[in-house]
Amino acid sequence: MRVLVIGSGGREHAIVKKAVASSLVSEVHCAPGNAGISRQAVCHSVSDADIEGIVGFARKTRPGLVVVGPEAPLCAGLADAVIDAGFTVFGPRRDAAMLEGSKRFAKEVMDAAGVPTAGYSRFSEYAAAAAHIEDSIFPVVIKANGLAAGKGVIIAQQPEEARDALERCFVERSFGEAGLEVLVEECLVGHECSVLALCDGDTILPLEPAQDYKRIYDGNRGPNTGGMGCYSPVPRVPPQLVDEIIEMVHRPVVAELKRRGIEFRGVLYAGLMLTEAGPKVLEFNVRFGDPETQAILPRLQSDLVELMLACASGTLAGHNLSWRPERCVTVIAASAGYPLSSSKGDEIAGLDLDGGLPGVEVFHAGTAEADGKFVTAGGRVLAISALDSTFRKARQKAYGAVARLHFDGMQFRSDIAAEPAAEEAVSR
Ligand code: AMP
Ligand code: GLY
Repeated sequence: MRVLVIGSGGREHAIVKKAVASSLVSEVHCAPGNAGISRQAVCHSVSDADIEGIVGFARKTRPGLVVVGPEAPLCAGLADAVIDAGFTVFGPRRDAAMLEGSKRFAKEVMDAAGVPTAGYSRFSEYAAAAAHIEDSIFPVVIKANGLAAGKGVIIAQQPEEARDALERCFVERSFGEAGLEVLVEECLVGHECSVLALCDGDTILPLEPAQDYKRIYDGNRGPNTGGMGCYSPVPRVPPQLVDEIIEMVHRPVVAELKRRGIEFRGVLYAGLMLTEAGPKVLEFNVRFGDPETQAILPRLQSDLVELMLACASGTLAGHNLSWRPERCVTVIAASAGYPLSSSKGDEIAGLDLDGGLPGVEVFHAGTAEADGKFVTAGGRVLAISALDSTFRKARQKAYGAVARLHFDGMQFRSDIAAEPAAEEAVSR
């Protein structure tokens, strides 16, 4: 079977590698892909925003499965267009993708389904939101309703910061349409974790949890990013807690969508805060996380393509997942200026001809090729994932590989998985 993967990041590279390893698959194509993905798949320069272009390309290549990686095309209706053209798609239709595309819709569904989440009020104009801020207990969280590439969430410590954030949304319109409706949320305190689950509309199969690092600098300082590193599994989220979260969050949400005539087929990703009062939902994503995927998929032993086909065709019941027992640690190497800007065209030294490094898995994100060399082409450049029997060893392996890499302005966090590694040392 031919598989077509849509997207160009580290997440898509991890999906492509799993597709190549599947016994069901003869050929993997990717649109648009990147320099690393081109080593394992045939890349085609069709943008993931070009719905007609992708449908046309699918008609030409006739893939047995189309996997949509990123949220923007899902929210724009790419899955609908490809399904309606007669293809099998892993990734929800637009109506279900609104769980990520509209934070207001996600709250409505959670309220109706009785899913624990932060208290909130919603506003569609500056004056009312600013008045509400005056009476709020700080910190408060200001969220643009629509997609904002992870930048539409501001945790305001004082009223002035909150007013600035509201001005950015309503007056400067920094987030475009996405910011013309705003949620003001209660600020939750605790540890965050991501619980992703495969869904076929009815059956829900949890993946092992992952811990993302959102801030750019060590010690969780500096601005939010798409994610600077990850590890999996998460010792503080044992299998029993994952099952509780699935029953408390994923199952009621999928059932509430179904009640509304909406079928969720794909990955439902719940971003959670583990508060003193129990897990509460921060957000939903309707696709694999990036970099969670680069830490989760290297441990998955089951055939991902078989699972994605089962989700797409509503036949997930009866499937099980098997996992390698090793820990996985993923470190992101980002370009100069990220997350505020990014730098392009800097030569990446240290990679082998296939874009890899010995002893680890390297997933390419913002990379391109120029004069036969790998160069940077975006904010997050590479994800380096290492598997080993302990977090301590997996960290050593990952950071040993990062030390072989070089490009001008390269940034990475040096504390990814430091916490579970230290706890291992204590418990021994
Ligand atoms: P989101 O895109 O909604 O996940 O928000 C991005 C990040 O902002 C989350 O990963 C959290 O770190 C933080 N965040 C979002 N909502 C809240 C909240 N209600 N309380 C505390 N932190 C939050
Ligand atoms: N790592 C967070 C996300 O994929 O949205």
